[in-house]
Amino acid sequence: MTKQAVAEIGLVGLGTMGAALSLNIAEKGFPIAVWNRTTSVTREFVALAGDLAGRIVPAETLEALVAAIRPPRAIILMVPAGPAVDQQIAALRPLLGKDDLIIDAGNAEFHDTERRAKDAEVQGVPFIGMGVSGGEEGARHGPAIMGGGPKVAWERVAPILTAISAKFEGTPCATWMGPGGAGHFVKMVHNGIEYADMQMIAELYGVMRDGMGLSADQIAPIFECWNAGPLKSYLIEISGAVAHAKDPETGKPMLDIILDAAGQKGTGRWTAIEAQHLATPVPVIEAAVAARNVSARLAARKAGEAAFGPAPQPLPAGALSDDDLEKALIAGKILCYAQGFEMLATASTSFGWGVPLPEVAKVWRAGCIIRSAMLNDMSQALEQDPARNLILAPVFAEHLSRCHTALRKVVATASLHGLPVPALAAGLTWFDMMRTARGTANLIQAQRDYFGAHGFDRLDGLDIHHGPWAGHQ
Ligand code: 6PG
Repeated sequence: MTKQAVAEIGLVGLGTMGAALSLNIAEKGFPIAVWNRTTSVTREFVALAGDLAGRIVPAETLEALVAAIRPPRAIILMVPAGPAVDQQIAALRPLLGKDDLIIDAGNAEFHDTERRAKDAEVQGVPFIGMGVSGGEEGARHGPAIMGGGPKVAWERVAPILTAISAKFEGTPCATWMGPGGAGHFVKMVHNGIEYADMQMIAELYGVMRDGMGLSADQIAPIFECWNAGPLKSYLIEISGAVAHAKDPETGKPMLDIILDAAGQKGTGRWTAIEAQHLATPVPVIEAAVAARNVSARLAARKAGEAAFGPAPQPLPAGALSDDDLEKALIAGKILCYAQGFEMLATASTSFGWGVPLPEVAKVWRAGCIIRSAMLNDMSQALEQDPARNLILAPVFAEHLSRCHTALRKVVATASLHGLPVPALAAGLTWFDMMRTARGTANLIQAQRDYFGAHGFDRLDGLDIHHGPWAGHQ
């Protein structure tokens, strides 16, 4: 293979994700030119590419990378989100033609993508911000891909992106989500939901471990059993595998030796922050982000336990069954996704993106971290009526009617015994608010009017907007 314009696509950044994505692209039959800031990494990557090396053009300079790609070019950036993306775009643009496309495939903050998209528009050059989910394994063998930017630019690279994406029963999990930052926004909400899914599973793990006194070995088959029902999903599957695993050093269950302080790169936090900006309620995700932050405060938690005594108490025998826990998680999961999709709908309207909600659910059915059987039902429910909240779709309304009593029982029982279940409780409370036609904000309106003459509307429709407390301020 010569180094002159033979590659159909280029990639910058051969870290874990970039390397895996490059091999995936080469494996699907597309010659790819690759470049990494450290040349030895590029050389090592090609040396280890085996049979696929014949379809990989290693470039030692950005000029060589550009020369190796057939115009109009497409170059994927897989570099750390943030300033590195801007630096890479600035370094590449002068070497590229007007039709050459840059695709940022990192976990960019969507406002950054919006800014880069606007810059590209001003320059008259194409730019795509693309969310990629599925970790290293997904990138190598089939990720879920959420694209954003000019549709014509997406369509140019769609044959490659759909070929490398995960497939759900033959349907590629790669879709254009809208202009500008829409793709990265969808990926951000995916990650918010990822945090919430993980947190709710961890809360029930806590109920089983601390409330029911179950060992990791006893918990593993419960997760496995759930994975054969409505909760079938990647995260439940790996939770079962993790609960089974033993530490090679000590022979103890891995779960019993891992420090209980969760890390985060911040995408879940972005979801919570953006939900606040959009005034769209995502309390399950917010609770999950807060719980990660609490988990990281180890010393403070130890001091709290020393001061007040340990919170978790054993549950009386038979207080909760496996079935209660499974149903609680089914309800919690539906409530969390209902909030996530409502957030997507709000953002889509507010930013004028036209995000195809059923397509979002379809793309998430395979390849990504939150893939699950339920997402197939969600895609169908959203196809029937994209404007309807998921809790009102017949299939989910039926699940909720069947499961919300168990969610209430789990949250109440856990709370009475000091077992923290913040995300499940947030879901339950949101659900109860959502079916309370006469809420309590009438008092808040009265208070606002009392101290600030903010005014209110009356139930009887009379054109009087202030209370009899005028002059009390
Ligand atoms: C994915 C994941 C991935 C994310 C990790 C870690 O979809 O493949 O969402 O993009 O970076 O899950 O995220 P945190 O460090 O924030 O937990």
